[in-house]
Amino acid sequence: MSKQNLLSLLEAEAGEYVSGEEISRKLNVSRTAVWKQVRKLEADGYLIEAVPRLGYRLTGKPSRLSLQELLPKLRTKRFGRKLHLLDVIPSTQDELRRLAEQGAEEGTLVIAEQQTSGRGRMGRHWVSPSGKGVWMSLLLRPSVPLQMTPQLTLLAAVALSRAISREVPVEIGIKWPNDLLVGGKKISGILLESAAEDERLRYVVVGLGISVNLEAEDYPEELLEKVVSLKMASGKTINRSDLIATILDEFERLYDLYMEQGFAPIRSLWEAHSVTLNNETLLYTPQGPIQGIPRGLDGTGGLQVEMKDGSFRTIYSAEIGE
Ligand code: BTN
Repeated sequence: MSKQNLLSLLEAEAGEYVSGEEISRKLNVSRTAVWKQVRKLEADGYLIEAVPRLGYRLTGKPSRLSLQELLPKLRTKRFGRKLHLLDVIPSTQDELRRLAEQGAEEGTLVIAEQQTSGRGRMGRHWVSPSGKGVWMSLLLRPSVPLQMTPQLTLLAAVALSRAISREVPVEIGIKWPNDLLVGGKKISGILLESAAEDERLRYVVVGLGISVNLEAEDYPEELLEKVVSLKMASGKTINRSDLIATILDEFERLYDLYMEQGFAPIRSLWEAHSVTLNNETLLYTPQGPIQGIPRGLDGTGGLQVEMKDGSFRTIYSAEIGE
């Protein structure tokens, strides 16, 4: 008997007690063997109530992602159809990069329950505890010039923000270029890493990190004034499979729209969701800090900043000051 047989039997009883005797008869094993498998399921995070004379009852399931739950929810044609669901890895970015180098196709997705070396922009560490977030990387092979990659960063932010709003009742704002904020605190981050050859884009690995069901104690204390999870913001535990399916759905639709119509529709959507525009802002660019009012995006995805003297500067890379 495997723990899976026992699980199927308990699940079929939908929360009712099944006696140890009945289980051992149906699965043709000893009562001790049943008990051993119960312990294994508990170790996997299942909650099983054992009451003398009544038997066993399944009262809770682990909040682990599974292909059985996720695959039927997918509504996409390509995104997520090649799916690698892993338990603990250093970073989904590295795993997907490895697959990309082996020729993995566009839409290939790597999801991890936990990352031990999750990374963010500017070489920062990304907190990725087990079972509570969405830590995943999606492979794109767009046929666009290398200098258009900032547009994909903005596209990813719009897709993620639309998907989260569909699943969770929170108001999301995009901080340039692609941080998603709820109530001014960061809920998600996007990391685009690309591989190019002679000005030609070979592939892009889009890393998406969403703090879904994290609790305050999952974060280092010093981060708490800057970050929040969807659960902390909405008061609800979120089903991660539903969220992943909706992210892929939004992402594939917007990506197809971008490939058909170019950046213009993405630009309008990004501007409509932005919390960066029309506010006095300090931007730390690689050339030094500049102060101005971001007014919108240009056709390539750069941020157009109005300076004090009324002139405009286009910024492609910067950290926004507090
Ligand atoms: C940021 O700094 O805001 C970007 C954070 C990106 C985190 C995600 S989690 C999945 C993927 N794997 C990583 O190591 N990083 C990205």
